[in-house]
Amino acid sequence: MPEAIQLSNVSKAFGSGDARTLALKDASFSASLGELHLLVGPSGCGKTTLLSVAAGTLAWDAGDVSVLGTRLNDLPRPKVTEFRRRHIGFIFQQFNLIPTLDLVENVSVPLLLNGHPRRASEERAAELLRQLGLAGRERKRPTQLSGGQQQRVAIARALVHEPPLLIADEPTSALDRETGHQIMELLATAARSPGRCVVIVTHDPRTYAYADRLTEMEDGRVAAVHQGVALQDFIASHH
Ligand SMILES: Nc1ncnc2c1ncn2[C@@H]1O[C@H](COP(=O)(O)OP(=O)(O)OP(=O)(O)O)[C@@H](O)[C@H]1O
Ligand SMILES: [Mg+2]
Repeated sequence: MPEAIQLSNVSKAFGSGDARTLALKDASFSASLGELHLLVGPSGCGKTTLLSVAAGTLAWDAGDVSVLGTRLNDLPRPKVTEFRRRHIGFIFQQFNLIPTLDLVENVSVPLLLNGHPRRASEERAAELLRQLGLAGRERKRPTQLSGGQQQRVAIARALVHEPPLLIADEPTSALDRETGHQIMELLATAARSPGRCVVIVTHDPRTYAYADRLTEMEDGRVAAVHQGVALQDFIASHH
């Protein structure tokens, strides 16, 4: 079976001259099918950059990127977009909801883009919104919601088409303790379904208990990967 994500020696710079920032420096990272994989590290160390490369939303400068057995290096840009629509769900750090659409319409987008009929897509979207505690708000606009509610809409949109690879950038940052645990349960269930993988960026130690594996980044590189007993030790020393 292919890895869900395989990045080998990936580099990425932003800007040029004095403003040049090396966000990824020969970073290598892998996440497997069947696991919930956490990505941690200080602000600015390159977590969002790494996952944006893996999701095909950001071009990189050097190195190899394979996702679900497809080498993204070899795919022309439009094919990358199509690949992402079919196979990847992305929960953005800034939510990226569409302000002119109501919640059901926002969550339906991935289904519509994959050619599903509108009516069935909206029914599925509404059902998932209710499951995430947003019953009665289905026809509101994102700006009429709290931060935690918007975050749950972003989560629903990433889950609705049951993508094999789900990437979440701090999905619990705006949530209270109870809702945060509910979301992690939902993501863990998705991760452990056959042929699926969930990768989560987090600063939230409450999420650590859900990890099958945890990668630590530092200054544009992967500094350590923990699983099993080493992961338990890491969790014990970060609570
Ligand atoms: N679009 C951009 N233009 C210029 N620099 C950028 C851009 N995006 C990221 N960077 C820089 O690249 C580095 C890595 O940023 P990145 O967003 O990947 O960090 P992060 O680990 O996700 O941080 P945080 O935990 O704060 O979200 C930082 O130094 C950041 O300033
Ligand atoms: Mg980030």
